[in-house]
Amino acid sequence: MATYEEDYARSLKDPEGFWGDAAEGISWYKKWDTVLDDSNSPFTKWFSGGELNTCYNCLDRHVEAGRGDQAALIYDSPMTGQIKSFTYSELTDLVARFAGGLDQMGIKKGDRVIIYMPMVPEAAVAMLACARIGAIHSVVFGGFAANELATRIDDAKPVAILAASCGLEPGRVVEYKPLLDEAIEISSHKPANVVVLQRPECQASMIDGRDHDWSEVSERTGPIDPVPVAATDPLYVLYTSGTTGMPKGVVRDNGGHAVALHWSMKGVYGLDPGDVFWAASDVGWVVGHSYIVYAPLLHGNTSILFEGKPIGTPDAGTFWRVIEQHKVRALFTAPTAFRAIKQHDPKGKLVHDYDLSNFETLFLAGERADPDTIIWAQDTLKVPVLDHWWQTETGWPMGANCTGYGIKPVKLGSPTLPVPGYDIRIVDEEDPSHEMPQGEIGVIAVKLPLPPGTLPTLWENDSGFLKSYMKDVPGYYKTGDAGYIDEDGYLFIMARTDDIINVAGHRLSTGGMEEVVAGHKDVAECAVIGVKDELKGQIPFGFVVLNAGVNRDGGEIAKELIERVRHMIGPVAAFKHVLVVKRLPKTRSGKILRAIMRKIADGEEFRFPATIDDPAILDEITADLKLVGYPHGQ
Ligand code: COA
Ligand code: AMP
Repeated sequence: MATYEEDYARSLKDPEGFWGDAAEGISWYKKWDTVLDDSNSPFTKWFSGGELNTCYNCLDRHVEAGRGDQAALIYDSPMTGQIKSFTYSELTDLVARFAGGLDQMGIKKGDRVIIYMPMVPEAAVAMLACARIGAIHSVVFGGFAANELATRIDDAKPVAILAASCGLEPGRVVEYKPLLDEAIEISSHKPANVVVLQRPECQASMIDGRDHDWSEVSERTGPIDPVPVAATDPLYVLYTSGTTGMPKGVVRDNGGHAVALHWSMKGVYGLDPGDVFWAASDVGWVVGHSYIVYAPLLHGNTSILFEGKPIGTPDAGTFWRVIEQHKVRALFTAPTAFRAIKQHDPKGKLVHDYDLSNFETLFLAGERADPDTIIWAQDTLKVPVLDHWWQTETGWPMGANCTGYGIKPVKLGSPTLPVPGYDIRIVDEEDPSHEMPQGEIGVIAVKLPLPPGTLPTLWENDSGFLKSYMKDVPGYYKTGDAGYIDEDGYLFIMARTDDIINVAGHRLSTGGMEEVVAGHKDVAECAVIGVKDELKGQIPFGFVVLNAGVNRDGGEIAKELIERVRHMIGPVAAFKHVLVVKRLPKTRSGKILRAIMRKIADGEEFRFPATIDDPAILDEITADLKLVGYPHGQ
């Protein structure tokens, strides 16, 4: 086998050869005409002319190859006390039957289907059934409110929505159906069909003619065969936070995605078919799409679908129980999950109650992995703890310690080296044609073409794709992250360059929250920034200036704003801090100095910008923050 260095160099020098070889790991109805068609860059096409079916590659072909009796998916739910294992044969049958029901409902290749479901096996069945008939799914995370769901309905224009009656959060049942009904009420586009999985914890009321019961749909026909789709046809659209309240619909194709994800299971995660892999995330996020559903199944692994939290379900030992019980070889989660476990079991005592002898590697991503958390996890688990870096847009890691080639020395704070296929550069924010010297922070950009599996465009929004990612650094994809590369070529990801924040590994837009806060009748202007949080990494913090003449209690208004964000964006925004201030610090041209406000709240040094309108406002903000305990520990 080639070394990491050889493969990395080849992937950049000869992408057609490298990815053409990787594509042999996938079954094609028709082989591609060209591996890489870059004639219309940056709208890169991978495996043009090829035809395949992603669901067939995830399921049927493993059954045909003799893997039918191996567990494909293990549903482990401390929320309900259930553990259910589905073999490749069983999952194929379930998916093929449900696909039959969707087909019978009139859903065709290219139609969009929204999936609004919690962490139940039917969510994976729904995704795979769409893939089987060539329909394009768009999963919406359960922690989003009706308004967010409505925005996605209007953008994707689905013919159907697949939902569950409820999700389960510790201590409460989250009824999905009223949220869904409200979303359809608000949206201009009305889907013709809604399919509801009735969970025992809550019976949803159904609307005649539009709503169908899940089990009835599954039983409408027998199993149906997968349909061939073009490699370049979309498999799914996943909405992610942008700089405004309008999320971006990241498109994923079928061919490049299957090839890259299949390759990554060995290349990045070091796993062989048959190994048990657990991505403790949610199917509503990209990690769930790529590493709970598609990649492990494409590669013939066993994937764990966990409905629970790292703590409180029932305790901080639940991750170790799952690892022991299902013989997990590699776990992938966000650092925040480990911070939560560490808070509850600082000495890691609960680990000793379990046999983790099958466990080999912990992968962290979704936010910066802080050195304390990495060291705690290393000491507690006694396995390599590997940070890796990626985004919804790329769908798989850009920077990682590629385990398949042997583990490189870990440098705390670094996700290690660029993954094959990604030519990562650090450029000057002021002059992007200029690369930053080694060790100096700049904007992180990836030289085009991006490797397979990454976003070919945004859903029906080519101009948004160009504007968001391709314009600022010509010839490169702008990641939105800032960082540097050290003398050994290691990447360090330091911060976002836009107003996206990471709250407990969830990607959120402070711009979107500002839009909601600014919509309150008493608010004249506002700024929402991400401040440091020991558990969640970052949390949103709102500063509001009230309209002249408003004499109401600031605390009351703050409560209304918190409720407003929860209702319009969702509980996942974790918007719980609002400060009413007299004025916001601005430049003379009227730009709010958010970065400086963040530094004050985090207790970091900052320089007075020469363009500040009135420096005294910074003293006022500092005093206001002090009153509510910020910066922490000072
Ligand atoms: N449906 C409905 N509500 C949801 C939800 C869902 N799928 N997921 C989260 N929420 C709610 C929570 O109940 C919480 O509500 P509350 O304000 O009433 O308490 C709120 O959204 C915030 O949730 P979260 O940020 O998850 O915080 P938490 O305090 O419930 O849990 C952690 C904190 C660290 C334990 C949790 O975030 C976690 O397990 N994170 C793992 C990281 C992860 O999955 N990242 C995804 C990318 S890898
Ligand atoms: P998402 O699209 O939700 O996966 O979020 C992607 C963003 O999360 C990236 O652009 C980074 O800002 C951040 N991120 C993800 N992984 C890491 C990591 N390992 N280190 C630092 N930041 C990360």
